[in-house]
Amino acid sequence: MIKAVRGTRDLLPPDTALWNFVEAAVRDVFRAYNFQEIRTPIFEATELFSRGVGEETDIVSKEMFTWEDGARAADYAVFKKWITSRVPGSKALAGIDPERAQPQSPQPSLIIEIDGKENFAVFRHRFTLPDYRLLKLAGEQSAPMGGKFQLRLVTADAVPDDFRALLLDDGVIIEEVSIDSPPQSVTLRPENTAGVVRAYIQHKLGDRGLNKLYYIGPQFRRERPQKGRYRQFYQIGAEVIGPPSAGSESPARDAEVLEMLATLLDRLGISDWNLELNSVGTPADRAQFNDALRKALEPVSAKMCDDCQRRAVTNPLRVFDCKVPADQPIIETLPRITQFLGEDSRKHFDAVQDILKSVGVEFHINDRLVRGLDYYTRTAFEFTHGALGAQNAILGGGRYDGLSEALGGPAAPGIGFAIGEDRLVMSLKETAEGVLRKPDVYIAPMSGMNGEAARLARELRRHDLVIELGDDTFRLKKSFEAATKAGAKYILIVGENEVKADAFALKNLATGEQVQVARGELARKIQG
Ligand code: HAM
Repeated sequence: MIKAVRGTRDLLPPDTALWNFVEAAVRDVFRAYNFQEIRTPIFEATELFSRGVGEETDIVSKEMFTWEDGARAADYAVFKKWITSRVPGSKALAGIDPERAQPQSPQPSLIIEIDGKENFAVFRHRFTLPDYRLLKLAGEQSAPMGGKFQLRLVTADAVPDDFRALLLDDGVIIEEVSIDSPPQSVTLRPENTAGVVRAYIQHKLGDRGLNKLYYIGPQFRRERPQKGRYRQFYQIGAEVIGPPSAGSESPARDAEVLEMLATLLDRLGISDWNLELNSVGTPADRAQFNDALRKALEPVSAKMCDDCQRRAVTNPLRVFDCKVPADQPIIETLPRITQFLGEDSRKHFDAVQDILKSVGVEFHINDRLVRGLDYYTRTAFEFTHGALGAQNAILGGGRYDGLSEALGGPAAPGIGFAIGEDRLVMSLKETAEGVLRKPDVYIAPMSGMNGEAARLARELRRHDLVIELGDDTFRLKKSFEAATKAGAKYILIVGENEVKADAFALKNLATGEQVQVARGELARKIQG
């Protein structure tokens, strides 16, 4: 049996009713705050995330689903280019179509006589040391008894100097050809903010002023699966982004987003949330903080986990992401960002808090909260929920005032969040049964009555009734069983006599009460 891949799962009915309930409620709330939906692609250029989210983050360094799109096609393009230009009479081989090369197609290679010598030639858009080991091995294994092949590498990518020296030393002949469409590294989106900002830049959305955008969709991270943590999970997110002249930097935007989240969670009946708030400052504030952290970590980092030892040098802020219990007492002693906030950051943070107090949204300052993505500036937050256990962050977000510029766009400060929909659904008190709309009526056609029953179903569905339609091969007993199983409120029997009389037997399955109702009265009677 082929099963769903580890870390992915099927969402089945009736649970999907709960997901739809959540999504309908959030769309309602987003509408009230004048947000509009954006849908960006599920995969993007890998560079978007390495530049946007940050090379040193767990997400980019460990968790992305990345592949070279068109890698084998590019190998075939190298092959085609070389063979048609170098080998006379090779027109037949021109039929090799790089467009048709699949990732699982064999790597192109060739045994060919050149200048009186048997060559073992390989064709790679890019050539690496492991490739070379394989080439050597293959060359040796397929060489004629006692003989030796001339190894020949044809590639489209410049071979780095030190590697080239090694190859030449080993007597490999290197040839370079150019190809029209090199492969592209692409990644399943691990989050949606970078994609939204890319779309903002690409479509010049700044010309519209302030953009208030929301999205609902799957994200992908190669994390160790556990309760509340999946490799394909769903986020409901929103971003407020625009040129500074449109007020995108105002603390009013931060507070509005936070107040909207409080409203949303309350509306879904999730009342025991906790808003943790911090300011991670401007890049200038953070440069000072990072210096202080580096100094503080220098004497202690050797006692910390491998990740922290690396982070201590490359990006000390990320030490706060560490979950290793033994490292926590050390992390507790480190300086905090709040001590390094410049006046602007401090004022902004105070203003956000003032508005939250005036609208009555409770929060806790958590000065350890730095968030796991590098783009954050100033306001950063998470909403946690006790019922979730270890993976207790139901949502996270913050400002990313420099992200657009980091991606080559105009100044476009922004703030946003993403709710983990899987976790949100887990924390609902509501049940799938509670929100599922069961059939109002099960229509049971007697023998030969499928057509009449379908006609009646069509009429009733026009009145926004939920109809489950049976089958005229079912005996009455089986129809009753099916109606009960479907959870229908009524069963309606369609027999020859009923059709003639244009009046039908309608039975309430809960009370057992049965009445004869004229066709024209049915919808009103069922609606109660
Ligand atoms: P994040 O904190 O990485 O932020 O993810 C947001 C939420 O997604 C988390 O709080 C969690 O509920 C959920 N989540 C993350 N990983 C998983 C997983 N493997 N399984 C289930 N749920 C998960 C972001 O993604 C930012 N883009 C949020 C943002 C928007 N910041 C500004 N704008």
